[in-house]
Amino acid sequence: MKVVLLGYMASGKSTVGKELASKNNVAFIDLDQEIEKQENLSIAEIFSEKGEIYFRKKETEVLKRLLQEDKNLVLSLGGGTPCYGNNMQLVNESNYNSFYIKLSIPVIVARLTNEKTTRPLVAQIGVADLPEFVGKHLFERNTFYQQAKHTITADSLTVAETVTQIEELV
Ligand code: S3P
Repeated sequence: MKVVLLGYMASGKSTVGKELASKNNVAFIDLDQEIEKQENLSIAEIFSEKGEIYFRKKETEVLKRLLQEDKNLVLSLGGGTPCYGNNMQLVNESNYNSFYIKLSIPVIVARLTNEKTTRPLVAQIGVADLPEFVGKHLFERNTFYQQAKHTITADSLTVAETVTQIEELV
């Protein structure tokens, strides 16, 4: 099983990825965690100490390395990974099957409201401004997300149901 999961922040990529990987007995890697391990800094620290451009460079480097390893793996990307450089091309030219976990704006906003502090791109945005921010951001990013081979519309799916849908398509 070679699977790449992508989607907006807080769309459940890592939760779904871990479940999918353990159910199918393959390794799971979260791209952000891999970058944190390599840099020995948290994502928030990389953004504040080295800047977003540095983070995006590392993101592409680590993505490229993992895809080239070409092994059985469930890999969850960061929310912005598909939208920079030629990252989606790298994914689509690899042997990995890609899945966009698609959630509606209200569902993303509800989740992000509880989980935004560790995410540098939204940490400073007030709760009242989140819907507009997410709406615009998602609009910009959708073109990239839609390049995934499959889209799972996950608003009303449990984690287990999302995993099952991916398994049926893989
Ligand atoms: C980002 C999403 C984050 C992380 C970084 C930037 C983005 O990952 O890579 O904070 O640009 O959307 P999650 O999608 O896991 O929050």
